Amino acid sequence: MTIELLDLHPAPADLRRLVEQGLQQTPRQLPAWLLYDAEGSRLFSEICKQPEYSLTRTEIALLSTHADAIAAAVGPGVMVEFGIGNARKVSPLLKTGQVTTFVALDISTTALQNALKGLADEHPAIAMLGICCDHSQLSDLPEHPWLTGQRRIGFFPGSSLGNFSPEDAIELLQRFRALLKGGPLLLGLDQPRDPQLLEAAYNDAAGVSAAFARNLLMRLNRDLQGNINPDLFAYEAHWQADNSRIEMALVSLCDQTIRLAEQPWTLRRGDIWITEHSVKYSPAAAAELAQRAGWRVQHRWHDAADQVSLHLLLPAD
Ligand code: AVI
Repeated sequence: MTIELLDLHPAPADLRRLVEQGLQQTPRQLPAWLLYDAEGSRLFSEICKQPEYSLTRTEIALLSTHADAIAAAVGPGVMVEFGIGNARKVSPLLKTGQVTTFVALDISTTALQNALKGLADEHPAIAMLGICCDHSQLSDLPEHPWLTGQRRIGFFPGSSLGNFSPEDAIELLQRFRALLKGGPLLLGLDQPRDPQLLEAAYNDAAGVSAAFARNLLMRLNRDLQGNINPDLFAYEAHWQADNSRIEMALVSLCDQTIRLAEQPWTLRRGDIWITEHSVKYSPAAAAELAQRAGWRVQHRWHDAADQVSLHLLLPAD
């Protein structure tokens, strides 16, 4: 079993500045990745188990069903997963024998260590390389003997691209294209469907989605010595057809002044604080997005209801 870890020492985020920028905006909104502290990551795993949130289960089933076809289409090489939150998803692809080395990029060394240990136990013949970095800022992989002369195959499942604005999504796909050096990208995206079902998926009956959003406030209280009372915010998730996205937001239940890092912020009753957008891409919208980022869709695998897609993207030229 071979695991190696390279730490590129990503600069820690300037949380104070991010909060200042985000809370000055109308409506207020902070980057979605701030939702994922340890408790946020745990709550997201719980969301994935809720009956209303089928995306994760459907994508895992898709990957298992089509693993051989996907492996044949992507060809042999080093598989690079952008973010390790979804470590479980890559397993069916690693079983196909096409992947010599698995590379995981993630901001958290602990997440990398845990995920790669689990994968290495399951796939002892595959070399596992973890790179601690901010993959949204990375333009190439560091030098490593396991990577020299190898084709690169990108893997970005889970509809994670949907949490970026379309402009940022294009920039990210362009970055992946440069980093993969001519290799393909397997991209998992969720599709638009019945708004009622989508709204339920993002506002489950057990209240886990609401707890996930409110956890952002607790995280800010902890990291910026804040005094926010999460109970003074209602959680809502709405489908916005014009932007083909779910908007998740906390709504202030009263006029209130909160403090973060000694700075006061006044909210009126009914003011919204967007915690996250989740853009849903139809096959046509995904093809257009890919094309704008210099990719073309070579193949698309989808579930029987055609709600979740795995797109195989190749460089457009
Ligand atoms: C991680 N990401 C793809 C999830 C989504 O479906 O947009 C995040 C999420 N937030 C609340 N529920 C799920």
